[in-house]
Amino acid sequence: MSQGHTIPILHLARLLHRRLLSITVLTTPANSPSIRSSLLDTTISVVDLPFPVNIPGVPPGIESTDELPSISFLVPFVTATKLIQTHFEQVIESLPTVHCIISDGFLGWTQQSADKLGIPRVLFYGMSNHAMTLSSIMLREKPHAMVSSVDEVFSVPGLPWVNLTTNDFEPPLSELEPKGALFDFVAETSAAAFKSHGILVNGSYELEPRFNNYWNQKIGPRAWCFGPLCLAEPPRVQTLQKPTWVQWLDKKSAQGKSVLYVAFGSQAEMAPEQLHEIVMGLERSEVEFLWFVKGFEERLKKRALIVKEWVDQRELLAHQSVKGFLSHCGWNSVMESVSASVPILAFPLMAEQHLNARMVVDELGIGLRILASNGSVRGFVESKDVERMVRELMERGEKGKEVRKKVKEVGEAARAAMGDGGPSSRTLDLFIDEVCNKKLNLLPSPA
Ligand SMILES: *[C@@H]1O[C@H](CO)[C@@H](O)[C@H](O)[C@H]1NC(C)=O
Ligand SMILES: *[C@@H]1O[C@H](CO)[C@@H](O)[C@H](O)[C@H]1NC(C)=O
Ligand SMILES: *[C@@H]1O[C@H](CO)[C@@H](O)[C@H](O)[C@H]1NC(C)=O
Repeated sequence: MSQGHTIPILHLARLLHRRLLSITVLTTPANSPSIRSSLLDTTISVVDLPFPVNIPGVPPGIESTDELPSISFLVPFVTATKLIQTHFEQVIESLPTVHCIISDGFLGWTQQSADKLGIPRVLFYGMSNHAMTLSSIMLREKPHAMVSSVDEVFSVPGLPWVNLTTNDFEPPLSELEPKGALFDFVAETSAAAFKSHGILVNGSYELEPRFNNYWNQKIGPRAWCFGPLCLAEPPRVQTLQKPTWVQWLDKKSAQGKSVLYVAFGSQAEMAPEQLHEIVMGLERSEVEFLWFVKGFEERLKKRALIVKEWVDQRELLAHQSVKGFLSHCGWNSVMESVSASVPILAFPLMAEQHLNARMVVDELGIGLRILASNGSVRGFVESKDVERMVRELMERGEKGKEVRKKVKEVGEAARAAMGDGGPSSRTLDLFIDEVCNKKLNLLPSPA
């Protein structure tokens, strides 16, 4: 129940539906209208389950994490969703044979239902193999127990080339002895995940083979890599009037100018001082940029286009003038940049974005990182470092050249993976064959 999770899961529903599976989406009343209208062109059915009322800590009427006043409401909110379980099971039992339950990784209680009803559950986190694997190792093996500061680099048992710092993680993962409501929630959902039938990953095996192998051999349950799904989308219908941002990019392209696309996602908040340094750094770098931001604009007009309305990020990244992406490194953004072969300038803010930045820079070599001058992955970044890295990526610089070259290769591999008969398409076929088409012989677990 959050935009960032709903959109991908509906996307997945469509994809499976196109492969002739019959799909029912279960949601709650406040989320239902937008889901229904987005599925109007399909025969996917939607069923509403009542959202619990009068829950301490959950403001009335709110059924999506996007509307929560602050992140501190998250745990009461997700805990409240457990009260949906009985209705959830009733609906599933009322449907014709259900072969598979696909649910968000955060709805751990759906595993209990799946066990009870003897239906395989597959979950969806929207994370990479890399982030899943490293997070899981942090919880189990605590490789950060030996370091003396949150910025000290440590290596990871079984993955000796990986460099991490405690600061690459957020609480509770960054804590040595995590406790509290958030940790209990994480522990509960991951326990449920371990009991599930598998995890769907929106990325290709070829992108992170060592992490997928490690996950499948040492952690589990099986992770199926069937993406990047943005490459499975049909091109959007051309409208008569090109949006302003397309016109602007066309103009830049005609002038032979390269554009840096800037977007930090819609969820994280950045300290005003930090935002200011970024603005200054961009100004001083003298590159052309297009920034998707809901805020200020006046001083930036000269070389920049500030976009406030929704942009089609996939189309934007595919525009020939876009030569770099200053990004928070949400996994979907990383996949879209890879798919369009646009190198990334990593500026992670929250959740597993710091790990994704490591993936982009250390593992894939398709981007550069803007770090605080003292080398900390969470330090305050000054405008001069923004300026320097923007120039490195967009203009001069050996490192910039290397990542520009590498992202072409990686993008090509991703497109091959999603092509007809490519590994990701085959994985999806296999998944449908093994999980969705057969009711597996799973016995309900003993009470
Ligand atoms: C997969 O990632 C793409 C690219 O970011 C995104 O557009 C899509 O919604 C995602 N789909 C799923 C099922 O995660
Ligand atoms: C890890 O750090 C070492 C030492 O700085 C460096 O040589 C190595 O390339 C780093 N590994 C990765 C994957 O970036
Ligand atoms: C770097 O600076 C940040 C503040 O910007 C501070 O919190 C952190 O401890 C510093 N790290 C190192 C390694 O000096």
